[in-house]
Amino acid sequence: MTNAAQGALTRRDMTKDTPITAIPELTIVVPTYNERDNVRPLVALLADALHGIRWEVVFVDDDSPDGTAAEVASVGQEDGRVRVLHRIGRRGLAGACIEGMLSAISPVVAVIDADLQHDERILPAMFDKFRDPGTDLVIGTRNAEGGSAGSGLSPLRKWGSDMATGLARRFLRITATDPMSGFFMVRRASFNQIVTGLQTDGFKILADMLSASGGRWGVEEVGYTFRERQHGESKMDAAVTLEFLGLVVARMTGGLLPIRFILFGMVGVSGIFVQLLFVRLGLAADLAFGWAQVAGVFAAMTTNFFLNNALTYRDRALRGWGVLRGLLSFYAVCAIGAVMNVGVAEAVYSAVPQWALASTAGAIVGALWNFVASSFATWRAR
Ligand code: GDD
Ligand code: MN
Repeated sequence: MTNAAQGALTRRDMTKDTPITAIPELTIVVPTYNERDNVRPLVALLADALHGIRWEVVFVDDDSPDGTAAEVASVGQEDGRVRVLHRIGRRGLAGACIEGMLSAISPVVAVIDADLQHDERILPAMFDKFRDPGTDLVIGTRNAEGGSAGSGLSPLRKWGSDMATGLARRFLRITATDPMSGFFMVRRASFNQIVTGLQTDGFKILADMLSASGGRWGVEEVGYTFRERQHGESKMDAAVTLEFLGLVVARMTGGLLPIRFILFGMVGVSGIFVQLLFVRLGLAADLAFGWAQVAGVFAAMTTNFFLNNALTYRDRALRGWGVLRGLLSFYAVCAIGAVMNVGVAEAVYSAVPQWALASTAGAIVGALWNFVASSFATWRAR
């Protein structure tokens, strides 16, 4: 661009475009994955609910195949308060919310689902609570006065959600009534203080924020009734509950172990049971012990591979022929891990002849190797 053209652009911007009063005081972050048909209705509802507040909305889309990002862009052509943050090659609800909040310059940010399940009409009441400088966070809650889970959750989901809430209260010392909520508003400056410690892999960003704040935040709640999803389908399943268990353990280790490693470890433990089961079956079928053990090890590696693919790495799960290639590379990784396991155990044993110590050391090194090597060789981030 020539200097003259640049000058012309600047001059035009300064004379008539974007009045300074358009600076938002509230940014609404909406994580999306395949929510195209919900974009327009949600923006209309927000516009209705937020009269008298200078707001903007940022949709954080993980390259949804249904074209959600393009839909947001087209709505944004008609309404300057609407923008899109389009992420390529990445998946994950918590990470999407975090990036959306970081992209905001307003002093207060909210997160709300795209599917109209959260009641946007309580946003002004939530925003009002920030008049009190002691308020850091306001949760839209289904469990407090005036709130209810309504008909938005199946009985099984309701039970899972209650379980998770109980766990969070017990182990993360969280006192809020609905730490699993995906609907909340936070002071941008408070968020900045904890953001570097947050887990980007998970689904339960609010529970993680509450835990990271260490009970020092002023937390308020506003009740609402959970509605039924309008278009598209839920991305939550049993894996999310396990992922949440991973978050609890991650927090209990002071954030030392990432959720992914904990999930990998949980899968590994399940593999021990699979191995024992297959050795038992092999022996029952009159196999020699050595062969029964081989069958057990292969069975365990195989179930470990599929469970990790469905749970630990579900955001980059292998499909089609990639499954076969991944399985073979996982066998190779585990074979090297087994050799390292034995090598380390022997080395430790020759230095300190205590079998339990030596064997555990071997197992830890083998497990770490399997985790790190398979994250590169089998489930490399694209
Ligand atoms: N960017 C992005 N990336 N967005 C995602 C992803 C992802 O990987 N997965 C889900 N989303 C978006 C969905 O498009 C939706 O807008 C929102 O996150 C919530 O996903 P749902 O699939 O609708 O979840 P839910 O209704 O089962 O559960 C939600 O509501 C519960 C009650 O408040 C979640 O917010 C839960 O965390 C919450 O407990
Ligand atoms: Mn939903």
